[in-house]
Amino acid sequence: MTSIAVVEGDGIGQEVIPIAQNVLALLHPEYEFYPVEIGYGKWRKTREACTADDIALLRDADAILFGAVTTPPAADYRSVVLHIRKELDLYANLRPVQGNGVDIMIVRENTEGLYSGIEWQEKDRACTLRLITRKGSERIARAACRIARERRNHLTIGNKANVIKSDVFFRDICIQTAEEEGIPYTTAFIDALTLDVLMHPERYDVIVTTNIFGDILSDAAAYLVGGLGMLPSANIGDGHALFEPVHGSAPDIAGQGIANPVAAVRSAAMLVSHLGDTSGAARIEEAIRLTAEAGIITRDNGGTATTAEAGAAIIAALTRLLD
Ligand code: NAI
Ligand code: MG
Repeated sequence: MTSIAVVEGDGIGQEVIPIAQNVLALLHPEYEFYPVEIGYGKWRKTREACTADDIALLRDADAILFGAVTTPPAADYRSVVLHIRKELDLYANLRPVQGNGVDIMIVRENTEGLYSGIEWQEKDRACTLRLITRKGSERIARAACRIARERRNHLTIGNKANVIKSDVFFRDICIQTAEEEGIPYTTAFIDALTLDVLMHPERYDVIVTTNIFGDILSDAAAYLVGGLGMLPSANIGDGHALFEPVHGSAPDIAGQGIANPVAAVRSAAMLVSHLGDTSGAARIEEAIRLTAEAGIITRDNGGTATTAEAGAAIIAALTRLLD
């Protein structure tokens, strides 16, 4: 029995995740789904956003489908997403940027770097430590090489080694790993790289980089394929895997029924692919393509379709593909 933990979370997570779950249920009626309530909504009710029991429920799943959670700007509120990534050691954040002739895989280190959580505030200054370890760098470089081998066999190592010592360390470990793995690579400074990805996306296959650089690069690269409403992601560790849209809870549009469900549905495609069903993943992608081709497009991409209409159209297209 394949069990899937479903975290809708906050805001538009509650609007797009049910559609992604329906897509999974359609393809895999044998999957067993169970909801896990996590997020700011829960915190407001119970003063806890994610309990040890919630983490245990996530650990039990074969895969996790995750919406988004709101992080309120309160000093004592810990980021739930960072907490889950750490607890489950989901060290590889895979963010495919695909569409409009673009096909790039951003592989972002997901457990350390500037998001290590080693930080403190003093009266007149604040400090966040950027921790880069050999183990963390090596395993993300290995994962990126593995992915490159399955794709077009090229790795770009995004870094800021011209300024930051910890990036010299990261870059050199990535170079050594790529050489050991026999993957052709280039290195690039992250600022110039971000611009070049936008101007010449066809030059890139797999890009590996540290935590915050990958976060920013992937949001910027979303520009190439229709924005945040289109980008899925996978958070993979050796024992657990969590799939979520790159976007957040989007409080500015939450509750209006206009969120684009494609990023969440694509995350479902990455989930089935991870569990071995690559043809199912291809069918989901095809259903998304057919829906856009039929002009059923949400407002963020210039259409008028609601979340529900776009979701229903994707489900209908997928149903036809499965006939
Ligand atoms: P966001 O991704 O929620 O929204 C950024 C902009 O993109 C907004 O204008 C939003 O309306 C638009 N957008 C995002 N997804 C969309 C979709 N599916 N369809 C149409 N438009 C979409 O990022 P923001 O505003 O920085 O953060 C909002 C909240 O979400 C914050 O509390 C933040 O901490 C949280 N967040 C959570 C994440 C997670 O759970 N993994 C990731 C990013 C942010
Ligand atoms: Mg982000």
